[in-house]
Amino acid sequence: MMKTITSLSVSGLVLIASLTDCRNSAQNDVVQAYDTIPLTKHWESPIPNQEVPPGLVSLLASDCGVCHTEIYEEWKQSTHAVAFQDMQFQAEWRKDSVSVCLNCHTPLQNQQKYIVTGFLNGDYKAPVQHPNPEFDKTLQQESITCATCHVREGNIIGTTGESDEMHQTIKDVGFLSEKLCISCHNVVDQLNPVLVCTFESGDEWKNNWAAEEGKSCITCHMAEKERPIVLDGQIRKSRYHGFPGSGIPKFYDAKVDGLNGLEILEDKPMVVYTPGDTLFYTLTVKNSYAGHKVPTGDPERFFLIIFAMSDHDGNVVKKETHRIGEVWQWYPEAKQLSENNLKPLEKRIYTFTYVIPEVHVLTLMIEIEKHRMTEENARYNGILGDYPLFISVFSRKHEIKIKR
Ligand code: HEC
Ligand code: HEC
Ligand code: HEC
Ligand code: HEC
Ligand code: HEC
Repeated sequence: MMKTITSLSVSGLVLIASLTDCRNSAQNDVVQAYDTIPLTKHWESPIPNQEVPPGLVSLLASDCGVCHTEIYEEWKQSTHAVAFQDMQFQAEWRKDSVSVCLNCHTPLQNQQKYIVTGFLNGDYKAPVQHPNPEFDKTLQQESITCATCHVREGNIIGTTGESDEMHQTIKDVGFLSEKLCISCHNVVDQLNPVLVCTFESGDEWKNNWAAEEGKSCITCHMAEKERPIVLDGQIRKSRYHGFPGSGIPKFYDAKVDGLNGLEILEDKPMVVYTPGDTLFYTLTVKNSYAGHKVPTGDPERFFLIIFAMSDHDGNVVKKETHRIGEVWQWYPEAKQLSENNLKPLEKRIYTFTYVIPEVHVLTLMIEIEKHRMTEENARYNGILGDYPLFISVFSRKHEIKIKR
């Protein structure tokens, strides 16, 4: 799918120039001690420095928000708005200073301190770079901002091309489509032996019911709303800009919307049992609502299904845990060990059994939790305790009586 980078290794260490210069220099036969590998993959380069569209005062979301107030408030709640400040991102990015991380988390060149033109010997930790005169620190803090998706070459890209002449607007429905989402949400690459990028939400979405029914990333993650898009504007077709996803907050006090992909069905236990009977409980989970696997994207995400039977004193007498997600080994070489994510429309049945003893009453608890990452990983990143790791998405309690 992608070119191998080594086949393009030619230009030299001293060549700190623009991307085009690097590529042109490939024709020279200059042999250098280190080879600068030019950038070849779309996510190796940011979106070039953008100009402020005529009529506007800056590229900042906070300035778009002066007129597009409601959309701005929604976007501020989204994880897109904090993709750079995110604690885990900062911990990982600081450790390795891999510049390419910035191209999806602060995607405009204006948001990046340095212009990167290549990598020494193809090492992602050794960028060839020079200062960016257009760097804007305030814009950097806005992470995936309005301009990421709406500003190109002095224009605002929209879906109607109309803006009441407040700013120059062009209509480009093809640009504002799932292709935009997939450009960041579908990348698979091994950056070095211990660093991999695996987001496959786009591939998971293609060729399944959602794509066939014309439901794209935007249909589900930017719900349609009829409303004015500016203060005192006309009511028109609009879309919610909170980009709900997992629903796992980034901060303990944050209020976030999430989506739910799972249809959950219980086959409840009977109410009364006789000692010696076997209790059967079945839980069916089906990925009925997500247009891709559940979980999707970040390989650290997983669901835990917990069954716990406790006696009348509250002591757990039997517990079973099931995990849905990927398992990776990160050292000495990153590699996927297993994966059991639910494919679109896939159903899985979990059964819990228990032989009823001579007691009065038992309580069966069922819990489904959605996790951002393991505690071990949070500890490794130095953020354990500061970063919400999971939410509960299903919780039930069944009292069981025993006839004696
Ligand atoms: C410039 C790259 C980029 C583009 C374009 C982009 N995203 Fe994202 N998206 C990200 C990153 C990075 C995150 C993770 C931010 C974080 O967790 O700190 C994210 C997070 C999300 C989440 C939240 C995931 C969660 O954990 O809950 C959803 C939903 C989402 N994006 C949907 C979309 C949709 C829909 C589009 C297209 C309209 C889109 N994204 C376009 C980079 C991008
Ligand atoms: C001075 C007020 C103002 C500011 C600031 C402003 N806009 Fe607008 N914008 C408007 C108006 C007015 C419309 C048209 C409203 C309507 O269609 O009802 C509009 C329309 C749009 C549209 C829809 C265009 C279409 O094709 O339908 C987009 C997208 C947009 N603006 C994005 C932005 C972004 C991004 C920024 C900041 C970089 C921004 N705007 C700043 C006033 C503003
Ligand atoms: C048919 C609706 C639907 C479509 C289409 C869809 N999604 Fe989702 N998406 C969901 C639901 C529902 C969830 C929440 C799943 C859950 O955690 O239960 C979700 C979760 C996510 C998450 C959060 C990651 C996670 O596992 O917690 C990301 C990121 C995401 N979607 C991106 C995308 C992208 C990119 C596309 C387009 C290629 C897309 N989605 C298409 C419904 C959809
Ligand atoms: C991750 C990409 C992304 C980001 C970030 C983003 N938008 Fe949008 N926006 C879209 C897409 C996609 C559409 C068009 C959806 C459609 O109708 O198909 C859109 C539509 C719009 C529209 C047209 C009316 C509507 O609601 O559909 C306006 C106005 C707008 N965005 C303003 C903003 C502003 C202001 C910000 C920042 C506060 C922002 N957007 C951030 C992707 C984005
Ligand atoms: C090709 C675009 C891309 C690149 C490059 C990229 N990311 Fe991301 N990153 C994403 C997307 C998309 C998500 C959201 C995935 C999801 O929620 O399914 C994300 C999410 C994250 C998260 C949040 C995880 C969570 O649980 O919410 C962290 C941390 C992160 N990335 C770190 C990094 C680091 C460190 C690098 C560089 C080594 C990097 N990213 C490079 C696209 C990218």
